[in-house]
Amino acid sequence: MSEIKLHDKVFEPYITKERIQASIEALAQKITEDYKDKKPLFIVVLNGAFMFASDLLKVLKFDLEVCFIKVSSYHGTRSTGEVTEIIGLSKNIENRPIIIVEDIIDTGNTIETLVNTLKPKAPSSIKIASMLLKPEAYKKDITIDYAALEIENKFVVGYGLDYDELGRNINALYKLKA
Ligand code: IMP
Ligand code: MG
Repeated sequence: MSEIKLHDKVFEPYITKERIQASIEALAQKITEDYKDKKPLFIVVLNGAFMFASDLLKVLKFDLEVCFIKVSSYHGTRSTGEVTEIIGLSKNIENRPIIIVEDIIDTGNTIETLVNTLKPKAPSSIKIASMLLKPEAYKKDITIDYAALEIENKFVVGYGLDYDELGRNINALYKLKA
């Protein structure tokens, strides 16, 4: 793997697709143990989580449902701390076990807002599955139940994650070069 340039910034190889795949498969095993008889609803947060969700859901071999929502909270390489509304929640989640599928948990602002918005709709349980977690940046109390990989507090792209909309299609993770 070599460096890549997106817009004005250079990114260097960080985590290979093999390592990502292995960590997703390990995570899938844990989720299977917890949910195989529960018919959960996976709520995938677009756009960033599309590639993670696709890989994760393919290796889950039990009955489940999926739906997709959108929130918008991020510009450039720093979290704005602002989160707008949830778009596209078409399913009734009352009394259902739900799992929110995210690309990355950074400050936690987005996931906190999501959980607070979904809770009043009375799901039987809410858990969070994120491909990436930045433990040094995360400032909230909500438990991140399932994180495939913990990473350092660096800006990363690839595997669904973008820098101003570029890089989502890259099949590995790259980090911003200092
Ligand atoms: P949070 O609200 O600060 O936790 O940030 C969550 C959202 O910001 C994620 O769902 C991503 O869309 C975006 N984000 C956070 N860190 C990164 C990163 O390193 N690369 C690309 N997007 C990121
Ligand atoms: Mg996201």
